[in-house]
Amino acid sequence: MKRLDDALTDRDGSLYIEERQATQLLEEFGSPLFVVSEDQIRRNVRRFQTAFSTGWTQGPVKILPAAKASWSAAVQSVLASEGCGCDTYSPGELAIALNAGFDPALISVNGFPKDPAHVRHSVEVGARLTIDSLEEIDAIEAAAKATGTKAKVRVRLKPVLSGFIDNTEFASEGLIPTDLATLAYKGGLGFEEAVAAGKRVLASPHLQLVGFHQHHGRHDASLRYWEEQMRAYAFEIARVCEALGGYRPKELDIGGGYAIPRDPHNAATDYTEPLKLSLFYMLSKTLKLAGDKARYKVMTEMVDRFIEMAPKQKPAPSIEEYAATATSTLTRELSARGIDTKGVMLQLEPGRSIHGNSGVHLTTVRGVKRVVTPVVWNIVAVDTTEFWLTGGRYEHHLHDFRVANRMGAACDQKADIVGASCFADRLLPAVRVPELAPGDVIAFLDAGAYQEVSASNFNALPRPATVLVSGKNADVIRRRETLDDVFQRDLVPKRLGREKAA
Ligand SMILES: Cc1ncc(COP(=O)(O)O)c(C=O)c1O
Repeated sequence: MKRLDDALTDRDGSLYIEERQATQLLEEFGSPLFVVSEDQIRRNVRRFQTAFSTGWTQGPVKILPAAKASWSAAVQSVLASEGCGCDTYSPGELAIALNAGFDPALISVNGFPKDPAHVRHSVEVGARLTIDSLEEIDAIEAAAKATGTKAKVRVRLKPVLSGFIDNTEFASEGLIPTDLATLAYKGGLGFEEAVAAGKRVLASPHLQLVGFHQHHGRHDASLRYWEEQMRAYAFEIARVCEALGGYRPKELDIGGGYAIPRDPHNAATDYTEPLKLSLFYMLSKTLKLAGDKARYKVMTEMVDRFIEMAPKQKPAPSIEEYAATATSTLTRELSARGIDTKGVMLQLEPGRSIHGNSGVHLTTVRGVKRVVTPVVWNIVAVDTTEFWLTGGRYEHHLHDFRVANRMGAACDQKADIVGASCFADRLLPAVRVPELAPGDVIAFLDAGAYQEVSASNFNALPRPATVLVSGKNADVIRRRETLDDVFQRDLVPKRLGREKAA
């Protein structure tokens, strides 16, 4: 038995998720399938809790995983049972958090803009509202007054990362310095607005300012990026506190953005690619002069040598490394600016790093095409689609993967693994694979965050089921859609003479 991860093993060439064989799960629940390991989620949460508590000893540490990354009721119940809080961004996520049983004082209500009814409900249930615009303060105050409570709020800051000007890995457009990219993102209040918000809250008998929030997200996986985030956060906290006449926070939320260990993020974007493709294109045009036969011969050689994608090989920093860097920098930088952190609660909102490696997406090969002339190109079609892995498409993910029923097979050829939609749907473009045949099962690793929750019904395709595995147990936590589900919101005006679209 070879171990790939806490929950993933290779047993005699077959992939297991905890104690369940991947191929057997497909036989039982159908293909394609999202599989979530309960044990991996629990391990990730406990590692975060231990690592950050080791670094932040001056006060409590609370993990508030971002619901958006994986918001099914079952997964959120697992997190609630671990004593976590919950980072929410919408009325739906707040409803899920309340249903799962999180302590409302540990539910972080983020978002800009916020719907007034959502603000009211958040105040009524006693959740922590994160102020992210001056306009929302009136609504929060009115709701607190109406319910006769003092609403506990924090102000979301927008620390300026002047010390981190490397290219942001979120930029698909090209090269953009991270400090400018974070300023352009809508979340957070600039210094002047943060001070205005703080003053307004402190002056209100219906509001209590409990602390600050920041989230810049996963622009870069490095520890250096975290060092700069915490330096800039401490700087911003200190100058806002000073402008508020010596205010001292009780809670500090440092947000999410910690990379998944195998870090599929942006692995599909190679910034040298436009240059390589331009050269390739120019060569292909020039070779036309030599005749088609010669041109295709050279092109075949070029494709074979230069067009290949591979998932990242270098692991991202560990949870422990992120924790040590973030907590030591924040403690040091705050104390250097005269902010005593004794008793301050540290909160964090990891999304991808709690859920990423807990999820595997299993898909079955349905067809293989081998183009031999004029240029060799192998196309392997599977029964999933990029529309069910969209969270990752937005972030240019290139997932690590395994052939679940032939784990050790030599990868002696190159192929495009394509999906079932009418788009090009190149899920794994030009990757090294063994010879594949219909029935083989491909496992996309690290598919637990942002994927299943972003799936759509493009091509009127019913979305796959999700199964939660715990040891030998496997339970459906989100059932596979039927065609009726796909069409259930459709209405056809009577005058068109039919009741339903299909
Ligand atoms: C406010 C907030 N917190 C936490 C997260 C989670 O980020 P990640 O999944 O990169 O850890 C997000 C993601 O967008 C967010 O907006």
